[in-house]
Amino acid sequence: MTNNELVYIALKSKKNAYVPYSGFKVGACVEMDDGTVYTGANVENSSFGATVCAERCAVFSAVSDGRRRIKRIAIASDSKSAVTPCGICRQVISEFSYENTVVLCASNDGEFEKYSIGELMPKAFKLED
Ligand code: THU
Repeated sequence: MTNNELVYIALKSKKNAYVPYSGFKVGACVEMDDGTVYTGANVENSSFGATVCAERCAVFSAVSDGRRRIKRIAIASDSKSAVTPCGICRQVISEFSYENTVVLCASNDGEFEKYSIGELMPKAFKLED
């Protein structure tokens, strides 16, 4: 699958976002090391802190299905500028990543910026460290 295809799936995945509070729909698509693909969208809550971002939704779906290592993850929103993962999501992505796991941050037209998780989350907390 190409980077563009992964971004396209992330863009489509935001359609099921539950965003009555922010109105900001986010979609994510994660490709695991065995080629399997999982999607996610943000799910908000009236207790705001209980909100789950699209990236964590996709990663937890993959992990709870038995997958462990992320090859690439794409994130997209309705915003004209590229959406980058929040700090909590960077930590969660790091937990299941290689140093060079690719993070594709897309804008609403499908253009994307490409980072490694190591760039976005240097020195991520690891309990075994
Ligand atoms: N959000 C995500 O889904 N991913 C991010 O990386 C940033 C923020 C969501 C959370 C909330 O539902 C909305 O965007 C506004 O913060």
